[in-house]
Amino acid sequence: MQVIHTLHDLRHRLRAYNQPAVVPTMGNLHAGHLALVERARTMGDVTVATIFVNRLQFGPNEDFDTYPRTLDADCAKLRNVGCNIVFAPSERELYAQPQTFMVKPPSELGDILEGEFRPGFFTGVATVVMKLLSCTQARSAVFGKKDYQQLMVIRQMVQQFALPVDIVGVDTCRTESGLALSSRNGYLDPEQLEQAPQLSRTLRTLADGMRATPERRVELEHLAMETLRDAGWKPDYITARRRHDLQVPQASDRELVVLAAARLGNTRLIDNLEV
Ligand code: PAJ
Repeated sequence: MQVIHTLHDLRHRLRAYNQPAVVPTMGNLHAGHLALVERARTMGDVTVATIFVNRLQFGPNEDFDTYPRTLDADCAKLRNVGCNIVFAPSERELYAQPQTFMVKPPSELGDILEGEFRPGFFTGVATVVMKLLSCTQARSAVFGKKDYQQLMVIRQMVQQFALPVDIVGVDTCRTESGLALSSRNGYLDPEQLEQAPQLSRTLRTLADGMRATPERRVELEHLAMETLRDAGWKPDYITARRRHDLQVPQASDRELVVLAAARLGNTRLIDNLEV
């Protein structure tokens, strides 16, 4: 496995390949990320993981400065799962000039749910993913369903810009207690770690409720918000949406997903379940 820090070296190294399969990450890798790499290994002729903490997608009061940067440990894990190339550019390398051209998702997708509570987040994500797909000459790219809305933004971006990239979504990797693996779980203290599975349990209850009595959606969502609040969370949203566009479901909609974002102490966690 080769660890590459510059675009020049990356281009040189990629000349030998036709079908890079790419896994974009911000590092601090866990088993969820590694599952994406394992999937990517089955898809191309070279497997590339990118590690870049993307300032563009962090708000002014978010954790850009404290986001864990663990390149050596990440590379050891990637080597173990058979990754071929790690592209870990510095900020000066990837954003040599200020990134003034941006990819802005449509409001109806980019400004709801996560986008409502993290203004500009999906513009930051879409812009860096566009750039990373371009740098790595990706022919396929793998993303987690853990970030359900992000996956949808990227799928629509790739489709509308006719990028020659297959986007693949991989199921969320969880602990035995149901907690979705996340780099931000590392911010939780032992007591919070014990509480954290409550988020997926509450989503499960909402999903079951939606399956049984979809007409009670508003009441079920309200109940889920209260459950989280009573357990000491500060929820931003917990809601049932249509799978294909994340809009509020109509009575006839059957393909649903429940999504939530909530703060436990200072740590904001997100999760979702397809109903
Ligand atoms: P990051 O949070 O590092 O996640 C990288 C990829 O890992 C994303 O596709 C995410 O959905 C996936 N992932 C995270 N936790 C997972 C889990 N428990 N199970 C399965 N997949 C999981 O998402 C980002 O970085 C950034 O926004 C990025 C796309 C790299 C752009 O900067």
